[in-house]
Amino acid sequence: METISKINEIRNIINEWKRQGLTIGFVPTMGCLHQGHLSLIEQAKNENDKVIVSIFVNPLQFRPNEDFSRYPRSLDKDLEGCRNFGADLVFTPSLNDLLPEKNLVYVDVDLLGNNLCGSSREGHFRGVCTIVAKLFNILTPDKSYFGEKDAQQLAIITRMAEDLNFNTKIVPCAIVRESDGLAMSSRNVYLTLEERQAATIISKSLSSAKSLLQKGKRDSLNIKSFIIDSIKTEPLANIDYVEIVDHSTLQFVDIIEKPILIAVAVYFGKTRLIDNLTYKEV
Ligand code: PAJ
Repeated sequence: METISKINEIRNIINEWKRQGLTIGFVPTMGCLHQGHLSLIEQAKNENDKVIVSIFVNPLQFRPNEDFSRYPRSLDKDLEGCRNFGADLVFTPSLNDLLPEKNLVYVDVDLLGNNLCGSSREGHFRGVCTIVAKLFNILTPDKSYFGEKDAQQLAIITRMAEDLNFNTKIVPCAIVRESDGLAMSSRNVYLTLEERQAATIISKSLSSAKSLLQKGKRDSLNIKSFIIDSIKTEPLANIDYVEIVDHSTLQFVDIIEKPILIAVAVYFGKTRLIDNLTYKEV
């Protein structure tokens, strides 16, 4: 496995791979890798000749008051994980390599970026799409792997690839959870022991909501209130949003008749966690 930070160097290797007719799978990350990230690498390895993982904490997707400067970084451990899961190349550009000066051009996200995380993190998806578009242009992967954990990001990137004609197939990957149901996240390391314990309320509430859906409940306001009440039983939880939206358009729905996404964001102390449930059996 090679680790490369320079854009020209990585382009040379990729050109050589393409000349040999090899397929490339790409897993973009911000590092501090856990089993969730590693499952994406594993899937990419199964489906491609070569796998590239990028590790770059992208300042464009953090708001000024967010955790960019304290975002957890663990490069040595990350490289070990990449190696163990079969990555061929790790792209670790510096800020100066990837964003040498302030961008004057960005990828603008319409409707899909306005609600859910888009409303509490203004500009977040513009930052995500701009960096992912740059990475797609540099690495030209055949397939790119994104976790369903970040469901809105996945929907937006899927649409970006279609709308802007990127020649890469976006592959959705299932959410990987801890044994008590908490969705794995790089930000889980911020949680105190009490908050970590309390955070299980998110996946418990989503599971109970799934049971209601399976029993035929279709009124989204009712289900939303049920989830809110359930999360509020945990005193350390502070809800940012709970929303039920159409799975592909991400627009709010009243009556559940098509596949939906239930998306939640909840603060525990200063740490904001997200999770979601997709329900398609309607
Ligand atoms: P990051 O948060 O590091 O996540 C990288 C990828 O891992 C994303 O596709 C995310 O959905 C996936 N992932 C994270 N936790 C997961 C889990 N528990 N189960 C399955 N997949 C999981 O998302 C980003 O970085 C950035 O926005 C990025 C796309 C790299 C652009 O900067």
